[in-house]
Parts: sequence; C-alpha cells; structure tokens
Amino acid sequence: MPAHMNKSEGANVEKPLTVALPKGRLLTPAAELFRALGWRCDLDNGSRQLLLTEPGAPDYPPIRFLLAKPADVPVYVEYGAADLGIVGQDVLWESGRDVYEPLQLDFGHCRLVMAGTPAQGGRDLRLAVGLRVATRYPRLAQAYFQDRGLSVEVIPLSGSIELAPLVGLSDLLVDLVETGRTLRDNGLVEMAQIAACRAVVIVNRVAYRLRLAEIRPLLAGLGGDGQSPRR
Ligand code: PRP
Repeated sequence: MPAHMNKSEGANVEKPLTVALPKGRLLTPAAELFRALGWRCDLDNGSRQLLLTEPGAPDYPPIRFLLAKPADVPVYVEYGAADLGIVGQDVLWESGRDVYEPLQLDFGHCRLVMAGTPAQGGRDLRLAVGLRVATRYPRLAQAYFQDRGLSVEVIPLSGSIELAPLVGLSDLLVDLVETGRTLRDNGLVEMAQIAACRAVVIVNRVAYRLRLAEIRPLLAGLGGDGQSPRR
C-alpha cells in the first residue's frame, strides 16, 4: 500500500484515534471493553449512527469510533482510515490484510470447521472427486484442502452456509461453530477443526509507529502490554 494512502502519516496528535468496531455479534463485547475504560461507546444501541467521537476517558486519548461490517474492519485499518480495529481472527485471516495483531481478546471464541451430512462424515475424502465446499471463507477453505492435496470446488456464500449440503448445493461446508447448535439443528456433523479463533485488536502499521504513545496505553487498558506486536 502506498504510504500516501495512510491517513495516520504525519498525524496531528490532537486528532482522535480512530477505532473500527465490527457490527454483529462482536459489537457488544467490544463496546463493553471500551466502556470499562471510561468511554460511552454507545454504538450497540440499535441506532444507525456509524461514527461517534468521544473525548478521552481518564488516562486515555479521544477516540472516534466507527462501525463497519466485520469483513471491512481490516480494510479500514490497513489503509489507515482507522488506526485500530476489533475483529474476529477468522475474518482477519480470510481478509489477508497487512495489519499488526498485537492483542488477543477474551471473547468471540469459536472454531472454523469442516462439516457435512453424516454420510459425508464417514467418507474417505482422499478417494472423493469433484467435491464441492460451500463457505463464507473461500481463501481459508481453499488453503485447507490444498494443504491436504484435495482438489475441491469452493462455492462462496455469504450466510446460512449450513443450508448448502442439505439441498445439494455442496458436499461439505467450511464455517464457524460457536455453540454447535446450528450444525446440530440441521443434522450436520463436524468432520474436522480447521482453526480456533477469537476476537483480536488489530493496528495500522504506520499508526503503530507514529502514534505509539497513545496506542500503547490503550492496548494496555484493553488487556495487553502494547509492547510487542505479532505479525
Ligand atoms: C454463524 C455461523 C454459523 C453459526 C454458528 O452464523 O456462520 O451458522 O453462527 O453458531 P452456533 O455454533 O452457535 O450455532 P451467523 O449467526 O453469523 O448467521 P449467518 O450464517 O446467517 O450469517
């Protein structure tokens, strides 16, 4: 990404830090994290407000919160339109976006799994040809099967993935499991775990250098030491 795309470059330190929060099931726990540090962060109240600027909570800088689709959070952060974001690792890995991931959070725990009907569950996939796999995670699914030497056709969908094997759109699915209820209620079985995921804080790489003095205490407050970003 060209450096000029990064709005954090040459940032005015008076400018609030921008934090991207994901709509959906991670929003309330993410907002609660910020509320615990003193911000109001009242974005999970059913309103349609997408931007909210708040003065610094005691000991912290002012923050402008923005609300985005989960898959867009890594995009806002990579381009520097947001300095930080909260997102599930599943979405982050699928995005392939180049951001720091300095802090894992203690919510949003789930698993990315391969699943199918009980008949598929008993099958040796190495002997199968022309398998179709429905998923919201086409990159992760393709990589998973490729690593195992299995040639499959990945069918990208945007939700209700469990429907696909039930109506013959696909043989298998790759999707998230949290409680296991959706698989169970649809008579599907888990066949393999691909990854365990949770919510994480991601940080724009340039902002991490230029605004470290503001970002470090925030990361410490959110639960990390803010010292050692993982790549
Ligand atoms: C997610 C996921 C599974 C379900 C798993 O879907 O795609 O369908 O949750 O949760 P469970 O194991 O607790 O049942 P989501 O609720 O986001 O809906 P969608 O598939 O319609 O997008």
